[in-house]
Amino acid sequence: MTTLKFRNNDEMPILGLGTFRSEPNEVYNAVLSAIKMGYRHIDCAAAYGNEKEVGNAIAEAFKQGLVTREDLWVTSKLWNASHGEENVIPALHQTLEDLQLEYLDLYLIHWPVALKKGTEMPEKASDFVPLSEVPLTSTWKGMEAALEQGLTKHIGVSNFNENQLKEIMATAVHQPEMNQVEMHPFLQQEALQSFCVQNDMLLTAYAPLGSLVDENSTLRLLENDSIKNIAKARHMSPAQVALAYTIQRGIAVIPKSTNKARLLQNLETLNHSLTEEDMALLKDLDKEHRFIDGKFWEVDNGPYTADSIWNA
Ligand code: A2P
Repeated sequence: MTTLKFRNNDEMPILGLGTFRSEPNEVYNAVLSAIKMGYRHIDCAAAYGNEKEVGNAIAEAFKQGLVTREDLWVTSKLWNASHGEENVIPALHQTLEDLQLEYLDLYLIHWPVALKKGTEMPEKASDFVPLSEVPLTSTWKGMEAALEQGLTKHIGVSNFNENQLKEIMATAVHQPEMNQVEMHPFLQQEALQSFCVQNDMLLTAYAPLGSLVDENSTLRLLENDSIKNIAKARHMSPAQVALAYTIQRGIAVIPKSTNKARLLQNLETLNHSLTEEDMALLKDLDKEHRFIDGKFWEVDNGPYTADSIWNA
């Protein structure tokens, strides 16, 4: 499988399985089926509330001899309620216990947003902690300690903008190696990509199919005419065109599915490629449109706004 190379030459499969919004009773089958089909990269997070089931599926794959630990790339993320240097390793231990693993391949700070301990999703201003009280650099120190203890092979962030990256890079002993952000043809993030490339940092695209979560949204990536036309011409599905576009930009993708046919279809993207002409047409689709808009971090008198997260 095509891979992205980390600084020490470790290789991450460029296409992984996303597990966000996979129901606990569905995610076990999705992960096990995916591994059977040839997926070798699973993207998880404590916040998805399903790491135990993901862990059961991975354990079953080991038991059936489908893969060894070394064959798999497993990513997880530190929840916002565990920001702060001293909270990182305990949170990571919980994730490792849930996933039944001794180490992760990649651990990310999920959001540049801090919440009070024990908060799942915030409802009021007092559920938050401002970054002035728990700076990103403090949380990063905890991430570095996790790396040094061998609990994870690589560390990075998610949903960070350029300035937030610069803030942790200024004092980091171990530089962030990954930024996982929303990316697809309607949100191409070229400036962020340039910054990451210049700083030897890799990118992973979440919601690479345009998320499909907002049923009322009139913007539907997979129904876009250019995507559909290219799909027809190349004997691909619209989803494969969307994934191939991001992959050919050198960015990892983690489409979520709990449906076997779609899991296979997404994996088979790797058997296709787009021409330079296709790539040029798709480049024109950028609308800087976020499906995951970050507005859920805005509460009355709260310390975070979507704009401060994406642009500050
Ligand atoms: P399902 O799990 O029923 O397959 P994203 O990763 O961009 O957030 O998108 C995930 C959404 O896209 C899920 O609703 C998933 O539903 C759906 N999906 C996954 N793969 C495909 C595909 N190949 N074609 C169409 N929809 C897909």
